[in-house]
Amino acid sequence: VSPTLDLFAEIEKLKKEKNAIILAHYYQEADIQDVADYIGDSLGLAQQAAQTDADMIVFAGVHFMAETAKILNPNKKVVLPDLHAGCSLADSAPTEAFRNFKEAHPNHIVISYINCTAEIKALSDIICTSSNAKKIVESIPENQPIIFAPDKNLGAFINKQTGRNMLLWNGSCMVHEIFSLEKILKLKQAYPEAKILAHPECEEIILKEADFIGSTTEILNFAKKDEATQFIVATEAGILHQMEKDSPQKKFIPAPPNNACACNDCPYMKLNTLEKLYLCMKYEKPEILMEEELRLAARKPIIRMLEISK
Ligand code: 13P
Ligand code: SF4
Repeated sequence: VSPTLDLFAEIEKLKKEKNAIILAHYYQEADIQDVADYIGDSLGLAQQAAQTDADMIVFAGVHFMAETAKILNPNKKVVLPDLHAGCSLADSAPTEAFRNFKEAHPNHIVISYINCTAEIKALSDIICTSSNAKKIVESIPENQPIIFAPDKNLGAFINKQTGRNMLLWNGSCMVHEIFSLEKILKLKQAYPEAKILAHPECEEIILKEADFIGSTTEILNFAKKDEATQFIVATEAGILHQMEKDSPQKKFIPAPPNNACACNDCPYMKLNTLEKLYLCMKYEKPEILMEEELRLAARKPIIRMLEISK
């Protein structure tokens, strides 16, 4: 790509030429968020993907998100700027091991967090995201045993909120598990007025200290409306871009990780760049493709989720 090329202008041109829509997650780099047609949490992105009339969906997020868009749109082209944009949480549930786990508990139904592969979705009865997990779990009769996968932290949080005792798969997100309670509490001493905002993928010891727990969209809305002017943010750092745009007068401090060498960036989300976004729109690849049998099996639990979330 020539260094003189105005990527923002070129991307806008390609959008029109190809009737393309850019869907971006809040963890994407700021430039990508600024060029997107829609930015949202996982539920919002799935809902947008389900209703778009664009010919090409350019998914600025990670693989399982683009895969979900493809599952909902078999006749549209779905491209992802970097095919290696995976997810540690999705990786924590390998298909065969999960199939065995499910078979060992035949009377359980399976609720899977959307951060999983199409194969795991195909083995699930219903999908949820962090913004609708409570509602989805509560839609299941109380005496029905449930397996919740793959995120044990979100599962434990929902167990606590609903009083259920779901059987939890032992998966987690590498980004949300690195926050240091000790350093957060120290920060809180320096900024006593600051409210702590946390994503439910964080460990329980962090969630216990939080003033608000929610999905990325819910955290953003809270920060916008709340009267506090300082916030400690325990989720991926990409979200700070919209927070600062929404409320330039407020102070947003990323929650510190426990290792000085670590940061709050998701290495997978940050594989996508503006240049890769431009190239994938121009050449219409890498493209998400899937076997029809797998697509249909994975679609069912997503549709169930979308129906309940209306
Ligand atoms: P939400 O945007 O749905 O809160 O999901 C967060 C996440 O970790 C996505 O990978
Ligand atoms: Fe997966 Fe965590 Fe990255 Fe989200 S932040 S894509 S859950 S590794």
